[in-house]
Amino acid sequence: MLNATIISYFSDICQSMGTFLHFTIAILLTFIHQAESRSVFVLKGQDVRQDVQENFKLKELEVFKWRFRSTNIVRCTDTLTVRVSPEYNNRVEFSEGNFSLLLKNIQQNDSGPYTAVVSGDKEKTIIEYLLVLQERVEPPVLTVDSNSTINDTCNVPVTCRVQITSVTSSCNSRTCSQVGGESRGAETSTVPLLSVYVAGGSIICNHSNQVSWAIATKEIVELCPMKSDSS
Ligand SMILES: *[C@@H]1O[C@H](CO)[C@@H](O)[C@H](O)[C@H]1NC(C)=O
Ligand SMILES: *[C@@H]1O[C@H](CO)[C@@H](O)[C@H](O)[C@H]1NC(C)=O
Ligand SMILES: *[C@@H]1O[C@H](CO)[C@@H](O)[C@H](O)[C@H]1NC(C)=O
Ligand SMILES: *[C@@H]1O[C@H](CO)[C@@H](O)[C@H](O)[C@H]1NC(C)=O
Ligand SMILES: *[C@@H]1O[C@H](CO)[C@@H](O)[C@H](O)[C@H]1NC(C)=O
Repeated sequence: MLNATIISYFSDICQSMGTFLHFTIAILLTFIHQAESRSVFVLKGQDVRQDVQENFKLKELEVFKWRFRSTNIVRCTDTLTVRVSPEYNNRVEFSEGNFSLLLKNIQQNDSGPYTAVVSGDKEKTIIEYLLVLQERVEPPVLTVDSNSTINDTCNVPVTCRVQITSVTSSCNSRTCSQVGGESRGAETSTVPLLSVYVAGGSIICNHSNQVSWAIATKEIVELCPMKSDSS
């Protein structure tokens, strides 16, 4: 799944190079890519500010641009004359002081790469952001599967679900260990994460992505009163 995403992400590059790209090369490209471009995760409807490095200054006759695909969102000359593209009127605020761009009310079609470009004798990209729009996650549903295996050590089998995804864990008053269900990628994955753990005397199922989270809880004391009393 993740591998497929990486490969499809780079398929444009592959095609333009006209070469077959082996998966290991795709991985290598991922690392190179990450070195110069950052992902910024934004909840739909929110505003986002994109900065350039501190102390950036334009030299004589240079033009600075924030670019999205083929549109120059904003242009700024070395004399700080600023022009905002009509498409972005009322949607952006540009700071001449530090060249940052505030993009308001992010929608689906705002996703993609934003570059800060300086044109002088040559054109140079000084920074790139990959804007990733995410929706607010849905609350998960946490259920106790059966209490027949709740014994003296208080092992509670629980399942946490969101739509078609579920995780099955065995929890006691201190910790949970996953016993089944879909295993998830790293926390940096853009796929929402479903994790089950114990905190503050409750079993917690946390459904999260980079911009939001929602939980469902069960109090341990209700599941195994005697064990909780003694500990
Ligand atoms: C750039 O300027 C804007 C507006 O003055 C400010 O909100 C933002 O925090 C500044 N960014 C940095 C990195 O200083
Ligand atoms: C994004 O879609 C909205 C309508 O949903 C449209 O008004 C806007 O111009 C589009 N923006 C871009 C950059 O395509
Ligand atoms: C086990 O579950 C049944 C019904 O679901 C409930 O009546 C009973 O009290 C539970 N037992 C314990 C020890 O939680
Ligand atoms: C309680 O159940 C767990 C797994 O269901 C098992 O590993 C453990 O040994 C059991 N403890 C006792 C005291 O029966
Ligand atoms: C749920 O997970 C998110 C992301 O990992 C975290 O920021 C948040 O604090 C967690 N919430 C609870 C109640 O544990």
